[in-house]
Order: sequence, then C-alpha cells, then structure tokens
Amino acid sequence: MLFRSWQGPVERPWPDVVSVPDHVGVDHLVVTRHALVRQVLADPETFRPDNALDAMTPIPVGALRVLARHGFRLPPTLANNGGHSHPAIRGIVAEALHPHRVAAQRPWLTAVVRERVGRLGAALDTGHPVDLYADLAADLPLLVLARLVDLPEAPTEVVKEFTRAALELFWAPVDPQRQRVLADVVGRFHAVLREFAATGGGLAADLRTAGQPPDVVVGALFFLLVAGQETTSQFLTLLLHRLTGTPEVIVGLGAGTVAVDDVVEEGLRLEPPIVTWRRVAARDTELAGTPVPEGTSVVLWLARAGRDPEVVAAPEAFVPGQRGSRRHLAFGAGAHRCVGAQLSRLEAAVVVEETAPLLADVTVVRAPWCPDNLSFRMPDAFVVAHR
Ligand code: HEM
Repeated sequence: MLFRSWQGPVERPWPDVVSVPDHVGVDHLVVTRHALVRQVLADPETFRPDNALDAMTPIPVGALRVLARHGFRLPPTLANNGGHSHPAIRGIVAEALHPHRVAAQRPWLTAVVRERVGRLGAALDTGHPVDLYADLAADLPLLVLARLVDLPEAPTEVVKEFTRAALELFWAPVDPQRQRVLADVVGRFHAVLREFAATGGGLAADLRTAGQPPDVVVGALFFLLVAGQETTSQFLTLLLHRLTGTPEVIVGLGAGTVAVDDVVEEGLRLEPPIVTWRRVAARDTELAGTPVPEGTSVVLWLARAGRDPEVVAAPEAFVPGQRGSRRHLAFGAGAHRCVGAQLSRLEAAVVVEETAPLLADVTVVRAPWCPDNLSFRMPDAFVVAHR
C-alpha cells in the first residue's frame, strides 16, 4: 500500500491510524483521516518535519560513495527543517514567490500555453496522437520557475533527469544498482547547484546576503527545483487526464457554468501529485488513542484526507465546487505549508482554460502510468488522439 497509496476506492475501510511495514521492514504509522492529518500538521513540536527527505530505501555504501564523490550534502533547509533557521529561509523563498510576482506571470504563461495548445491541436487535426505530458506539462513549470527564481544554465532534460532521479532515490523502493545510477545523476547536478549557489543572482544572492551558509543556499535551490516544478507538471498531467474522463466538466467550462478555479481545487483534492507526506514523532505521544513512540515515522495520507467522507459530499466524484472540495490538504498545512501553492494554482488554471476546448474532442490512447513511490505520482506520459 505504501508505494501505491493513490489506488483503491475510498470505500475500502481503513483504520484512522494504522502501522504499515515498508519493503525493508520499517514500520510507518499511516494517518488516514482529514482531521487527524491536520492535527499532526498543526503540531510541529510533537510531529517534526525532519524526516521529510529521508531515503525510503536506505542508501547503501556504494551509492553513498558516489554521492560523497560529488560532494553531495543536504542539511535541513525547508521541508525537512524543524529548526530555528526555517522561518528566515522560508521568508526569503516566499518573497521570490510572492503572489504579486506570481500573478504577473499570467499573460506570458497564457501566451506560451496557447501557442503550445495550438500546435497540439494542429497535430491532432492531421491524425497524429500527442503526449500531453511530454509536449505540454513536463517542462512548463520549470520555465515559469526560471522566471521567478534565477537558476543555473542547464538544458531542461538535464534538470528533469535530476529531479526525477531525486524523487526516485529518496521516495521509491529501489535496488542498490539503481541507487548508484540515481546517486550519480543527483550528485552531478548537486555540484552544478553548488557552483551556482556561490555566484548566482536572484534568490541565491538574497540568501547569501541574508548570511545563510552555502549549504543552505544549495539546499533551498535543490528543494525548489524538485518541489517547484516536478509536482506541478505531474499535477497538470493528472488533472488533464481526469478531465478527459469527465466530459460534463469540459462542457461546463466551455459554457461558463463551471469555474476554472473550482476545477483546479477539485483536481488537487482528487489527483494530488503528492499523495503522502512524512513527519516524525519528537516524543512519546498518541494519536486517536494509538500510542506513538518517539521516533515513529508518521505517513500522512494527503490523498485520502481529500476523500474523507466527513469533509466532502461526494468523495470519489469529480464535482468542481462541491461541498468540501477546497478543504483538501494537497499543499500540507501549518508552518511548512507549500509556499508555491499560488504559483501551481495559476499554472493549472491557465492550462485548464487553454486546453479544455482541445480535450472536448480527444480520446485517450495511453493513460498516465505511475511507478511505485511513497509520495510522488510521477506520471510518465499521457497520449491522446482525435476522436
Ligand atoms: C501542485 C503542486 C504542488 C503541490 C501539490 C505541493 C505540495 C507540497 C506539500 C504537500 C508540501 C509539504 C507541506 C507540509 O509539510 O505541510 C510542500 C512544501 C513546499 N513546497 Fe510545494 N507543492 C506544489 C508546488 C510547489 C511549487 C510550484 C513550489 C515553488 C515554486 C513549491 C515549493 C514548496 C516549498 C519551498 C515547500 C517547503 C515549505 C516549507 O517547508 O516551509 N511547491 N509542497
């Protein structure tokens, strides 16, 4: 269950809190109910974020050597930083992603998406299938991020290879041979980030000026590159796929009876790209009557919290604007709540607006396939053709 936790209908009974062993025999306490997930997220003293980036498959000596050879280090910076330095680092990152700066991207983003959708439509018209992941969603969030945060000059494919390797190395069940390959990809790009962190402008310069040590600047860029674009390109792909299965929503969008923002929120609720997120118990405590010893890995099932019948009127149905639709926890909550929420919402709104007319006329050739992963969906492709 841990590595394919988005599968299966909500009707399947699950305890509110249950211990589940992973593939290497470590127990994780899975929290399934909306109220309990919120409770954990709201209490960072008891449930710390320190394990957020811990490798699910312990990294063996061979792969550790590869990482060390590249000078890889990842000290607590943002998502896994429960210490005193977190608010200051977060404040600087949040400034770079300020809602005004995000909103200013809309005209540019709309033009880019419109142009892409035009090209995809032309290909479909000539009878060619198109991949809405590869040809639309994969690199779009990276392009937007690069307009808000100065990033190292690197080809898109290299950045995507690095970020997907990081998601696999830290969150997937992997064998030692694969870990070495992934460690090499992640380590190589870490070296690129280190160089950029020392000299780059924008956010990197702001962090340096604020007196943040080099490792923190690298850590912030590392996490932003992973969290700031992989998540959104996965979400766009999953949301577009969901829309092809709900023609009434596409018709409603066209007729103006369904609001784009409601579609995005319902998408985040039913198709969150991050299905679980971790915390670790800082002391002996309890959760819904279940004892939680200090050091327990707590897996918050965000995807299931979004389908809690206590919160949502029709948990399994895609009904934009329904009661409880916006109460999802796709962005987490509390001190570590996603700072990119507004940005990803804007990207999704523009993509839905611009793509809906094209979706009205397509059939799915190849649905997205997602690999085993604790937290990230990582769809690989989404191919459609003219009906
Ligand atoms: C649909 C897209 C996205 C989803 C579902 C998502 C989800 C999340 C989740 C679940 C967390 C952990 C929250 C917690 O621990 O309470 C998080 C943290 C974070 N996200 Fe996102 N995210 C998305 C897009 C983005 C984007 C576009 C950016 C930036 C450009 C971003 C930057 C961050 C950062 C910096 C953190 C760490 C915040 C902290 O620890 O203070 N995310 N995100």
